[in-house]
Amino acid sequence: MAELQGQEVLAAVGHLAGGPELLELTRSREDAALVGGAPRDLLLGGTPRELDVVVGGDAALFAGDLASRIGGASAAITVHDRFGTAVVEWEGGRIDVAEQRAETYPSPGALPEVRPGTIGEDVQRRDFTVNSIAVILGGPRRGSVQASPEAAADLAAARLRVLHERSFVDDPTRLLRLARYRARLGFAPEAHTALLAAEAVATGALATVSRARLGAELRLTLAEPDPVAALAALDELGVLAALDPQLGFDRDLATRALAMLPEDGRPAVLLLAVVLLALSMDGGRDAPTDIARLLDGFEFTATEREAVLKTAVLAPALVDQLREADRPSRLRDVAASSPLEGVALAGALASGRPPYGAAEAAHEWLRRWRHVRLAITGDDLLAAGIPPGPEIGRRLASVLARRLDGELSDGRDAELQAALEASV
Ligand code: CTP
Repeated sequence: MAELQGQEVLAAVGHLAGGPELLELTRSREDAALVGGAPRDLLLGGTPRELDVVVGGDAALFAGDLASRIGGASAAITVHDRFGTAVVEWEGGRIDVAEQRAETYPSPGALPEVRPGTIGEDVQRRDFTVNSIAVILGGPRRGSVQASPEAAADLAAARLRVLHERSFVDDPTRLLRLARYRARLGFAPEAHTALLAAEAVATGALATVSRARLGAELRLTLAEPDPVAALAALDELGVLAALDPQLGFDRDLATRALAMLPEDGRPAVLLLAVVLLALSMDGGRDAPTDIARLLDGFEFTATEREAVLKTAVLAPALVDQLREADRPSRLRDVAASSPLEGVALAGALASGRPPYGAAEAAHEWLRRWRHVRLAITGDDLLAAGIPPGPEIGRRLASVLARRLDGELSDGRDAELQAALEASV
């Protein structure tokens, strides 16, 4: 790949969702170019997740024209005036539009100040050389490429290289982007870029970025096709420890825990709990308060925060309790009030090491026992003359314990009889 083949990129764009409409709209526009991840992925023979376009004029106007070609009323347009960007989204895909621009960073870690620029400047403002490739979409230069000088060689060598010395200091979120590209593309930073990244982490660059922005980047990391690899790369870069000295990532543990998590579990909750595990076990800190504060700062929702908190805090204690649960009803007593992710993490913590049996218990709970249901309900007990109130729940719980432990013969009659006979 000594040269970047712009014509091939455009041919491939014609087969992507929204591609034909984009090519048609830009046929005579030499100010429009395809940029960022799309040329990179297409040149690598992959399929981009979305298309990024820069235009010389008004991004919102362009997005409107594009949307009406693509899907009329079914394509939604979102405009961000401050950044001169617009997004066209429809059921089949998404195209990001931005005005060609140059950026300056008023202070390290701040959002950039934007002014109109040329395609050349737009290419220069980017994070890594492999993302600094623009393919002109229309006009006489249609299919020609404007890219940073090292882009072609770096793409061919699977290398991540920043465009200038201050890149990570200006925008430390690029440290998290680097980890994502490492994991997703299998690209490694070249030596100088690795050094600049390490220096930026060591000199506290991440402290200049708002926690909300870091949280958004963390969510993107968790949404990667291989989030375990992406989190491992973040940890290796020192990014997690820079956010809090007790954050870290045990890749093997995460892999075991994910393998144990059932389909209806939430991988992101589990992985965040792995990141927070050491903190949750730090006796010298008020772990629940500190974890809640961290997750709130990163703007996770209250539901996510509670699930992660419970998982990280409960899992270590669950290990012993799981081992001691000598029958399914006991297993239910210890596991039913814990999130699935907490049981999976406890199982992973226990696997392969004493106390033996805890990992198996976690597995059995997640795959088998948690699905056991009674054929009777509270209504059956009411119909049989049991007065409304907490006694109903106690009788049902007693029958469920006996059902789990294999003490009842099959069928609802046996359950009803056991419920009526239960001494509660
Ligand atoms: N970019 C950047 N610095 C950032 C964010 C984005 O230089 N902090 C540039 C990169 O050139 C990137 C482009 O903006 O390619 C678009 O960013 P984004 O939409 O996040 O990436 P995509 O290219 O859409 O997707 P991918 O994650 O596949 O690269």
